[in-house]
Amino acid sequence: MSMHIEVTGLVKQYPLKAGLFARAKDRVHAVNGVSFSIPRGQTLGIVGESGCGKTTTARLLLRVIEPDAGVFKFEEVENVFSLPEEELKHVRSRMQYIFQDPYNSLNPKMLVRDIVTEPLRYRGNSTRRELERKAAELLEHVGLSPADSKKYPHEFSGGQRQRISIARALSSNPSFIVCDEPVSSLDVSIQSQILNLLIDLQKELGITYLFIAHNLAVVFYMSDTMAVMYTGKIVEMGPSEELYRTPLHPYTQLLIKTLDTEARKDPLVKNDSGEVPSLIHYPTGCTFYPRCPRRQAKCLEAFPPLEGEGIQHQVACYFPGQEQKK
Ligand SMILES: Nc1ncnc2c1ncn2[C@@H]1O[C@H](COP(=O)(O)OP(=O)(O)OP(=O)(O)O)[C@@H](O)[C@H]1O
Ligand SMILES: [Mg+2]
Repeated sequence: MSMHIEVTGLVKQYPLKAGLFARAKDRVHAVNGVSFSIPRGQTLGIVGESGCGKTTTARLLLRVIEPDAGVFKFEEVENVFSLPEEELKHVRSRMQYIFQDPYNSLNPKMLVRDIVTEPLRYRGNSTRRELERKAAELLEHVGLSPADSKKYPHEFSGGQRQRISIARALSSNPSFIVCDEPVSSLDVSIQSQILNLLIDLQKELGITYLFIAHNLAVVFYMSDTMAVMYTGKIVEMGPSEELYRTPLHPYTQLLIKTLDTEARKDPLVKNDSGEVPSLIHYPTGCTFYPRCPRRQAKCLEAFPPLEGEGIQHQVACYFPGQEQKK
């Protein structure tokens, strides 16, 4: 299958802010060698706890921040990361971003009409009339009314604001959209409406999504393939259905159990201390070791490589497997 997006060996370390105990060489290991690919029109979901590197991955792909290493093949571009700034402009319109927080990501002083057509105005070859027509069309496309174009963001609910963000993302006809926690700040009752809108738009327009969330159920709902991320690494990746039914990594098993109220009584879930190792003094072995019910001495030697039977379902664990039923 030909891939629309191929990311290989993505690495990002942030310099530590100067502080009393900070040494110049201290770095936050935010993303530590992440690779994945997405076929056109499909969704790859990334799930993982706060701080595991999801947003950093998203910002790297959009080149909001620069990677320390990695290759990002996108459509005919061999490596987006090595494109000079002036060529990046053309790629940028084909890649868009939907943020978590529809309150802070929309400029409160701008009319909705101007917000949703901003990516077009940036390119500067449309007349005012064209932009107005385009704004009305975009708003209808995401389930809002053309009359909403003369309002300001504060006149809308959270879900409606996220529709405005989606309309803005669609305005430049992107082929790839990164959705970073797009429903996390919304009421549960509104979440599925926005998720279904994203699914409908994908079916209609053939857009490829990278869909990021900390909630495994939400990622499962949205994704063809799921990647589970922990301390800047993918620890398990595979077809969503298979990964959900047959998780092989103890961390994935923990995430799935946490969804289920009854299973929270399980010792693995109940005793989970949630101890995540420091991303500054990144350990040599498996970073899940302190929380792992299956840990052994070997796990301290090196981080296990992401491997599997074939390329479909991969897991980074020396002792992968389904849990023993008690
Ligand atoms: N600008 C920055 N400078 C230094 N460290 C940063 C910076 N941005 C993020 N980090 C650190 O990098 C790690 C990964 O952060 P990131 O925001 O990518 O995580 P995340 O998975 O998106 O988390 P969340 O679920 O909370 O959004 C964290 O330890 C975070 O504190
Ligand atoms: Mg984030």
